[in-house]
Amino acid sequence: MPHNNVLRQPGTKNLFTALSLLVLTAGCAGVPAVFTPASNNAVQTTRLIGLVFIIAAVVFVVVEGFLVFTVLRYSQKRKNTPGLPPQIEGNRRLEIIWTAVPAVVLAVVFIISVGTLRSVSSQPEALAGILGPKPLVVKAIGHQWYWEFQYPDQKIITADEMHIPVGTSIQVEVESVDVVHSFWVPILGGKMDAVPGTTNILWMSANEPGTYLGQCAEFCGVEHAKMRLEVIAESKDQFDAWVTLQQAPMAANLTGDAAKGEQIFLSGSCTACHTISGTTAKGKVGPDLTHFASRQTFAGATMDNTPDNIVKWLADPQAVKPGNLMPNLNLSDSDIRLLLAFLQSLK
Ligand code: CUA
Repeated sequence: MPHNNVLRQPGTKNLFTALSLLVLTAGCAGVPAVFTPASNNAVQTTRLIGLVFIIAAVVFVVVEGFLVFTVLRYSQKRKNTPGLPPQIEGNRRLEIIWTAVPAVVLAVVFIISVGTLRSVSSQPEALAGILGPKPLVVKAIGHQWYWEFQYPDQKIITADEMHIPVGTSIQVEVESVDVVHSFWVPILGGKMDAVPGTTNILWMSANEPGTYLGQCAEFCGVEHAKMRLEVIAESKDQFDAWVTLQQAPMAANLTGDAAKGEQIFLSGSCTACHTISGTTAKGKVGPDLTHFASRQTFAGATMDNTPDNIVKWLADPQAVKPGNLMPNLNLSDSDIRLLLAFLQSLK
């Protein structure tokens, strides 16, 4: 995989390749965009970044300008060198100036940073939202290596994809079941650590419908890079339809291959790790699969939910995502075909 090569062989050339890729692909599908904010919080954060960048750029130009001027003006190689510059050691006025100016600059950066931090850490009033004054609560729970999403008020549990209605404030309660992860959807702003035993609150909203990519932003083990997520922001009608779909129990009375696949699933070791609501499968290790077929991706939002990819995954999960908690179950081709039919019935 070219990505791994770039990361595993640090060097000027590879660093340059990585940076070029980052610049070229910013905003494209597959890479979380950073500089095109799509929420009020992200707009504020991006504004702060811009402001601090401008301040830093001015400081850089002034300091480097003096340096370059001095080097050129007093160079020994110069024809008409004026010799040594005036010696200013112990000049109290200059020392006060160059202590006070950086202190003031840093104070300004501190004040605007704290202001932004306060603003993005509380519920945006203007966005009380289409669900009324109460925010939509979503628990984002980090697992090695996928995100689980629980909607306590709606009684929904899903994975990899977080659906939200546009223009509503979302209270994301970030938690972890194992190690420290970090919940980060750059285009929607904010980054929040997922710490075992603690609930951290992140406020989120989306101004426009769309699919926004996120990535775990704290190294959490071998598959940290493959711990992604998608936030799907949609109209209130679409969101309500999604909620209704997710609340429905799995289809009863399956027939044909899907029914045979269900038999294999429920009699095998799958149930030890996965939950399918309304069945005897109540495992809590892997993602909840109740409405697996309604998702666009799986495996930490790193694989498109296509029959080919499901077959590849079932045949040997360790070959696809080495180190993940699902072992190779050595399923036969016919079992894989039946399980595929079953998983595709979980709409
Ligand atoms: Cu989870 Cu990195």
